[in-house]
Amino acid sequence: MGKFTKVEPSYISKDGCRLVWEGIDEDDSDVVVLNKDELDSLTEILAKNSTGKVELEDEFSTILINTDLVQFRLKDSKYLEAKTSTMTKAILEYKKVPHTPKIIKVYPKEFLPSIQIEKEDEGNQLKAVLKSKPKKGIPQSDLFRVMSTRRSTRNFDSSKVVEQWQVDKILAAADTAPTAGNFQGFEVFYIKNKEVKRRLVEAANKQPFVNAPVVLVFCMDPSRVKINFPPEILAKFSLQDATLAAAYSQLAASALGLSSIWIGMIDEEKVKQILGTKLRPSSILCIGYPQKSRPPKSRRKLKDLVRVIE
Ligand SMILES: Cc1cc2nc3c(=O)[nH]c(=O)nc-3n(C[C@H](O)[C@H](O)[C@H](O)COP(=O)(O)O)c2cc1C
Repeated sequence: MGKFTKVEPSYISKDGCRLVWEGIDEDDSDVVVLNKDELDSLTEILAKNSTGKVELEDEFSTILINTDLVQFRLKDSKYLEAKTSTMTKAILEYKKVPHTPKIIKVYPKEFLPSIQIEKEDEGNQLKAVLKSKPKKGIPQSDLFRVMSTRRSTRNFDSSKVVEQWQVDKILAAADTAPTAGNFQGFEVFYIKNKEVKRRLVEAANKQPFVNAPVVLVFCMDPSRVKINFPPEILAKFSLQDATLAAAYSQLAASALGLSSIWIGMIDEEKVKQILGTKLRPSSILCIGYPQKSRPPKSRRKLKDLVRVIE
């Protein structure tokens, strides 16, 4: 894939445009032609610094506008992307729409993975992080073994360092969870700052173990869920999205030989204030090496859990 370079008029699409990606050679270029309606929809989303989706008239292709990347999923599995900031500037200048550049908030999604992302994997960093081989082996990667041996901990061994590649895999695992309409209605705040961790302890009913080696706050972002349903449904979907993502991260942590504690007892308003966000937090996942490894807790008998309806 080349680099997105410009927007220019298209002689085949009056009032539309051509988006051009230039490769190393001239014949490496890629072009996407938008008609007037498609260009207007894209402009509207970018002008509002919003996120969303534009379906193209061929009924196969879509443009996904995310906070960081604009992704073009085109016919014949072709994929192109551009930084949202670059695309916004180019489109709004082309359409002569006045615009103040958005101050980009560095969400943890923009964290730099510890691994070298190979050129061919640039379009799919998630896969690259997940398939990357750490220096040390991964202790338990069989899913059912991970599930049946997982045990929460509230006592972390702070002398053992959680490495960056482990955090990368845990964060990447969150983004593999299913989400409503695949709109990924959640954000993860990866808290590295000691003072912020300390304040989160206060916001979590003074539970001291919230000050853990790795602290992830999962938040709901219903504004990402571009489905035409009432706000309460979108709120429910984003709560489910954030919860599932945290559950995937929790399992990933266990698979890496770490332990965690899920914190649901939080003062949402305090957490929002501490993180400087309007997004509602759903849970805090605190991760580290346990001081002691313990066997899993028992559960009710499966026959008491499952109601069979024949
Ligand atoms: C929705 C939810 C909220 C929770 N909130 C807290 C919490 O605020 N503080 C805490 O110490 N543990 C909390 N936990 C952890 C549970 O107590 C723990 O997962 C449970 O006892 C089962 O133990 P296990 O995870 O080792 O199987 C929460 C777990 C869930 C799923």
